[in-house]
Amino acid sequence: MDVQYYKNGLIRKLRPTETDKFGDHLLRLDKEARRMRFAHTVSDDFIVVYAGRMAEMGSVAYAYFSDDQIHATAELKKLGDTWGHEAEAAFSVETRFQDHGIGTELMGRVITAARNRGVTQLYMSCLAENRRMQAIARRHEADLRFEYGEVVGEILPQGPNYFSILAEAMEDRTSYMMAVLDLQKRLMKVA
Ligand SMILES: CC(C)(COP(=O)(O)OP(=O)(O)OC[C@H]1O[C@@H](n2cnc3c(N)ncnc32)[C@H](O)[C@@H]1OP(=O)(O)O)[C@@H](O)C(=O)NCCC(=O)NCCS
Repeated sequence: MDVQYYKNGLIRKLRPTETDKFGDHLLRLDKEARRMRFAHTVSDDFIVVYAGRMAEMGSVAYAYFSDDQIHATAELKKLGDTWGHEAEAAFSVETRFQDHGIGTELMGRVITAARNRGVTQLYMSCLAENRRMQAIARRHEADLRFEYGEVVGEILPQGPNYFSILAEAMEDRTSYMMAVLDLQKRLMKVA
């Protein structure tokens, strides 16, 4: 699936130039959502630095855009310098966008991206206490297995295949084309 329009918005990969919007989204998370997202309480300053470093961390991040703002993200982060069998996933959906299936949709993207990088173990430190994340994991039980109370889910073997790699490549390409069109539109407004 390419760039996907979803619930009056669209889901696509985050670009390295979009760290400001990423930061704005994280800053909009309320206290409890921030705690769940980062596994502890974090300050605004921490978030600004974290978002700014997104590009250099080599993560794969997907974002849900609506009204030209990011309102939800999912990150797949490698645990070492290179991609190995283990990776960490983290999700954030702003309160008013929750319970509309966006988290479930983002999880599907993360599973595909993980498979394409040979990841088989997915750490989600929130899983044990987070009812919504548990519901999302259940919805993906054909692809992701986790035991209640565990923080690591196993991505069931399917491995990267032609279609999963093509799906991600198509998405990147469409995303790029949309960025060019968007830029052209903005340049025309200026001219
Ligand atoms: C957890 C989070 C990512 C989920 O995103 P979302 O877009 O709300 O998720 P979805 O709408 O796809 O799915 C939510 C599911 O939880 C269910 N749910 C909602 N409240 C629930 C509750 N109190 N108990 C059990 N299930 C609940 C919904 O019914 C839905 O399941 P369904 O699709 O089977 O009906 C989002 O709520 C969030 O960002 N929370 C704050 C930060 C966080 O916890 N991040 C995870 C850290 S890794």
